[in-house]
Amino acid sequence: MEKYKNYTIKNVGEIVTLNGWVSKVRNLGGLVFIDLRNRTGIMQVVVKPENQYYEIANSLKSEYVIEVTGKIVERENKNLKLATGEIELEVEVLKLINKSKEIPFTITDYTTALEDTRLKYRYLDLRRESLKNNFIIRNAVTYSTRKFLNNLDFLEIETPVLCKSTPEGARDYLVPSRVNKGKFFALPQSPQIFKQLLMVGGFERYFQIAKCFRDEDLRADRQPEFTQIDVECSFVNEDEIMTLGENLVATIFKEVKNIDIKLPLMRMKYDDAIAKYGSDKPDLRFGMEINDITHIFNNTNFTIFKNVIEENGVINAIVVKNSADKYSRKDLDKLTDFVKTYKAQGLAYIKYNEEITGSIVKVLSEEEINNIKEELNIENNDLVLIISGKYSVVKTSLGALRCKLANDLNLIKKGDYKLLWVVDFPSFEWSEEENRYMACHHPFTSPKDEDIDKLLADKANCYSKAYDIVINGYEAGGGSIRIHDEKVQEIMFKALELTEDDINEKFGFFVDALKYGCPPHGGFALGLDRLCMLLSETDNIRDVIAFPKTASATDLMSECPSNVDEKQLLELGLELKK
Ligand code: AMO
Repeated sequence: MEKYKNYTIKNVGEIVTLNGWVSKVRNLGGLVFIDLRNRTGIMQVVVKPENQYYEIANSLKSEYVIEVTGKIVERENKNLKLATGEIELEVEVLKLINKSKEIPFTITDYTTALEDTRLKYRYLDLRRESLKNNFIIRNAVTYSTRKFLNNLDFLEIETPVLCKSTPEGARDYLVPSRVNKGKFFALPQSPQIFKQLLMVGGFERYFQIAKCFRDEDLRADRQPEFTQIDVECSFVNEDEIMTLGENLVATIFKEVKNIDIKLPLMRMKYDDAIAKYGSDKPDLRFGMEINDITHIFNNTNFTIFKNVIEENGVINAIVVKNSADKYSRKDLDKLTDFVKTYKAQGLAYIKYNEEITGSIVKVLSEEEINNIKEELNIENNDLVLIISGKYSVVKTSLGALRCKLANDLNLIKKGDYKLLWVVDFPSFEWSEEENRYMACHHPFTSPKDEDIDKLLADKANCYSKAYDIVINGYEAGGGSIRIHDEKVQEIMFKALELTEDDINEKFGFFVDALKYGCPPHGGFALGLDRLCMLLSETDNIRDVIAFPKTASATDLMSECPSNVDEKQLLELGLELKK
């Protein structure tokens, strides 16, 4: 077998045989033109009326499979947009290899077919050039990863798919055991525990391109079944791992897309990311940072702001440059509705034009309006959007708003990549639902050395050795230094309010392993699908997964999940509740 050839004007005169699908067929004044599509792209094929295969050519339809043999000639009418646009193949022999049923949608990159239809016939959808290119990118990413990590003596090791539930935060997919009726395996949410055990096992440098399964609410960047580039190593500190991670990512960007990423990447503390961007995955491709203007209103007469300050809330603003005239009252009402979905009470605005107007201009003092202007470096036609209230609500809603505005106003340059590490995550986050502190990352993440003593008494102020790599507002990966000291692990479990029984039942085997000379270790996992999304410049994760699930976690093509036979249930000792 040889490598695929990409024919160009240099190949004129050569006799070649090509296989592929009929993308388009036209009869123009007797000549039959066929666009033949295969892995390498499109080749125009011409069949003359005197050719003995002319009738077959005339009978071809979209997606028929053919084989053609003929001479490459220079085209009269060149199409320079196409890689093969200067040449065509003059058919000598044409074989019809297989027919196709009428296809449910036209196979073209600018398809208007519904995604559900395309997913039902995914094998046809995959024939589209743009999808094919995404998988060429995906393959290049995994190839580059394996090369990079192998060069650094990392071993690729597989870990089980049928395993014990790991406490990663999402719901598990469960698999009933036939042999041990009433017992279940869980599909791994990540290989976290196993990769740590490989460190205890002495491998020192591990990686795996690992399938992970999480039964969680799906979004455009989330699938129930996804892939991680999972890495772990021993005897390293945070700095060394982040350097390794960013070098891997930069190598992938260079090798796959020839994009130079400037290293070292910026590192931003979690608290700063929330304060300035309202998100732990800040999109730095545009400005519009969040400004705290609470102090301007320390002596305000405006009741709403006064009350917010009395209740220890904040007043924050973003500035939309040179846009006051772009937003009508109706547009601003829509933005208000948008921020309300993030629990903000409302959205105040001031338009700084020759005349200063806006929803709160009448209730603020002239001094307050001028202070805002000065502090935020306001220029003519700037729009100031203000939210007041509880810190977390104000930050989250303005964070989401700045991203929405950047999209609406086309502030994001195509092909621009902004990468950073977000570091110093809190160890715990408060769960309103559970009314307790939960692990921000997972229970094996090491706290900062100086915070170990606070784990039980001052959870709100404990920070961890965790880091996330963020690309264009997406969490592309994350990791941490792990706890390798059995005592610290015990304190952490206690801080998470796990009982002795919980610990023994859920990960007794793991805690036990920490007692047998566990090396200091840490690692990270990159979301392979998200990385491929970013490199393929799509915002839909399904575009980079060959056979993805829908937003409701189903496969429309094979129609699963599906019913199973009563017999299968019986064997598993299961009965469905009516
Ligand atoms: P985490 O849960 O942050 O860390 O996952 C690592 C990365 O995996 C990607 N990711 C997803 N991609 C698509 N669909 C999903 N449902 C999904 N969930 C996560 C993200 C994320 O950054 N074991 C730890 C890693 C470690 O500590 O080494 C872990 O799984 O890009």
